[in-house]
Formats: sequence, C-alpha cells, structure tokens
Amino acid sequence: MKGIVFTNFFEMVEEKLGFELVDQLIEGTELATGGAYTTIGTYDHTELLALVGNLHKLTDIPVNDLLVSYGQYLFPKLILIDPDMIAPFGSSFDLVTAVDSIIHVEVKKLYPDAELPEFRVVKHNKDELQVTYTSCRPFAYLANGLILGCAEHYNEKIVVDIENREADCLISMSHLNSTPSQASAD
Ligand code: HEM
Repeated sequence: MKGIVFTNFFEMVEEKLGFELVDQLIEGTELATGGAYTTIGTYDHTELLALVGNLHKLTDIPVNDLLVSYGQYLFPKLILIDPDMIAPFGSSFDLVTAVDSIIHVEVKKLYPDAELPEFRVVKHNKDELQVTYTSCRPFAYLANGLILGCAEHYNEKIVVDIENREADCLISMSHLNSTPSQASAD
C-alpha cells in the first residue's frame, strides 16, 4: 500500500484527535517501519489495519467507522495527486463509474506498484449506482468513505450502503433526496 495512505492517516489522527494520540498509536503498534513512511514508498497494508485496530482500542470508535471517516478525509488528498485526472467528471456517480476503467488505470501508470481494488458497475440509473468491490485487501469501508468524500467534493448528499458477500462487497449509492423508484400501478 502506498505511503500516501499512511501519511494522510497520521495527519487525520493528529488533526482530529491530537498529536499525543499519534505518538500513542505508533508506540502501541508493532510496525516494521517504526512509523516512518514516505509518500511514494510502498508498505504492507496490514500495518494500516493494525493502526486502525489500535486506534479503535484507544478511542472506542468502531473500526468500520474509522475507515469510513478516513476515506472521507483521504479523497480530497488523493485528487491532489493529479487534479486533471478527475476534471472530466461532473458528479460522484460519473466519477465512481470511472474509478476502475480510468482513474485507477492512471494511478497505476504513476505508481506501477500500487495495489488497487476492482470495481464493477452492476446497476446505474439517475437515482442509484451499485458497484461491486473486489480486493484481496479488506477496505470496502475505506471505499465507502472515499465515495462520501467524492460526493462532498460535488456538493451532493448521498447514502452509501455495503453488503458483504462471499467473494466481494456490494456497494450501493443513492441520492438522499431522490424518491425511491415505484412500481407502476397499471
Ligand atoms: C470515489 C472514488 C474512489 C474510490 C471508491 C477508490 C477506492 C480505493 C480503495 C478502496 C483503495 C484501497 C486499496 C484496496 O481496497 O484494495 C484505493 C487505493 C488508492 N486509490 Fe483509489 N478510489 C477512488 C478514487 C481515487 C482517486 C480520484 C485517486 C487519485 C487520483 C485514487 C488513487 C488511489 C491510490 C494512490 C491508492 C493507493 C494504492 C496503494 O496503496 O497501492 N483513487 N482506492
């Protein structure tokens, strides 16, 4: 996992919970790196999971909630990698639909050793978007947060729901104010 994902994690913890907690977190987690990460380095993703698990112990905030909050925090940082990359997209549905086929493809060109998940669109209409998340890393709730961060970027209000399935996760997004589609009466 790229160092940018680690450096921003510590930045979020420091910003929201204070630097003492960052110290506690590094001291209390067994890390091969000793907590020193560079943005472009590559590290074992299990170190991030260990850090999130420890932050849960220190704060009592559920692990999935921590991952969602982190995804929201991370989205605006990721787009700074190359703001032109997201320029063609005008909404969260547009962007999420293009993560697999365009955005992460470009990310892979920039960082050939990036470990990226797979998103497949299974349903897409104006009210609802459903994608499957497949990865050998358990970061579906991070994806949930990134999607919320993406919606914030476009000033949209959306609801995200995750259904864990055997080999993947189904992530459903819908607009908060959209009327649920109704079956025709006739
Ligand atoms: C809402 C849109 C997006 C979603 C849902 C998403 C999802 C994810 C997830 C879940 C991961 C963690 C790896 C895994 O689960 O296997 C990831 C990694 C990453 N994504 Fe995205 N992403 C989005 C947009 C972007 C954008 C706009 C950029 C940059 C322009 C980006 C760059 C990256 C990078 C650099 C990584 C780290 C790869 C690594 O650690 O090796 N993503 N993305």
